[in-house]
Amino acid sequence: MKKVVLAYSGGLDTSVCVPLLRERYGFDHVVTVVVDVGQPDVDMAERKARAIADEHYTVDAKREFVEDYLFPLIKANGCYEGYVLGTAIARPLIAKKVVEVAERVGASALAHGCTGKGNDQLRFEAVFRLTDMEVVAPMRELNLTREWEIEYAREHGIPVPATKEKPWSIDENLWSRSIEGGVLEEPESVPPEEIYGWTLDPTRDEHPEEITVSFERGVPTEVEGKRLEPVKLVQTLNEIGGRHGVGRTDMMEDRVLGLKARENYEHPAATILLKAHRDLESLTLTYRQLQLKRVLEQQWAELAYFGLVDEPLFEDLNAFMDSTQRYVSGWVRLRLYAGSCRVVARHSPHALYSKDMVSFDTGGEPWHAEGFSVFHSLQSRIARRREG
Ligand code: ARG
Repeated sequence: MKKVVLAYSGGLDTSVCVPLLRERYGFDHVVTVVVDVGQPDVDMAERKARAIADEHYTVDAKREFVEDYLFPLIKANGCYEGYVLGTAIARPLIAKKVVEVAERVGASALAHGCTGKGNDQLRFEAVFRLTDMEVVAPMRELNLTREWEIEYAREHGIPVPATKEKPWSIDENLWSRSIEGGVLEEPESVPPEEIYGWTLDPTRDEHPEEITVSFERGVPTEVEGKRLEPVKLVQTLNEIGGRHGVGRTDMMEDRVLGLKARENYEHPAATILLKAHRDLESLTLTYRQLQLKRVLEQQWAELAYFGLVDEPLFEDLNAFMDSTQRYVSGWVRLRLYAGSCRVVARHSPHALYSKDMVSFDTGGEPWHAEGFSVFHSLQSRIARRREG
């Protein structure tokens, strides 16, 4: 029996993949896998899958997603071209879970529903190709139009939304929501308010709110002094930030293939946590640690964006990030209001800050600075004099 395992989302593309894998690729057993990384439509996807696939699995990977992917991301302040990574960081985990199922059921092939234009095909296949299984990408290979897919879905009894569906292509997980397609493909168009699902219109925010987030060794542990388990913590901050319109991104993004794309994202918890985490680092890391870390963070983010999490350098970078987080513990207070998120106070038992040394009001032996200032500009001074 020719068995294939498909990474399934419940959307039109991955749904039409099921009969296509039978009819066009000759598989006689199609197994679907929905990996729950906190997207809202898991139940719907599972129901749909059970109706059309030969065998189905739903894998709850939420906790693993937060602990093994988001916590390292927070430690590395994982931002690509200025926005917090979202879709990219979930893909390797989804792919790994699909591979696990494929090995369990003895499949000979792995399939995904990504097109040939985006990054996700690369991220899935970076993991899929660690195995010797065949890789199948019907959406990339068959070049189908949406109309054709809808017709084909109807013929195969796949439920298609009756009304003309909203044109948005949405990717969602616990950490971030990405919206593409429709008018958003025109960089000149202002995103309509209806694309947003997690964040309130910032202009409608009436009251500022302050919250305190605590960290232990670079990992968030508490909100308002209350310890929360990792998944709950992220969900809580998404709710709080969302009601103040915090965490919207609208940008031109450079995809791995070189295409520029207009991208919109929502990520309230990510914005809050990275703002807070960076601030706590500035309190507890030395100037030189901060300097090198900011450079290596770029490398980390690029590998994560490219989906190259099995690249040995990624492991090395994570070891570096971990080492820097030994003293990144304490709390940060933030004010959320009308789309903005600002740090207003911070504390760490391991702060490198010394009030006595820096204060205007106390000693700190300022006379030592005079000798320092004589030497401080020495080379520049001599160089200037050389010019006459
Ligand atoms: N461009 C983003 C990335 O590569 C997000 C793509 C998400 N896909 C979607 N259909 N919205 O990370």
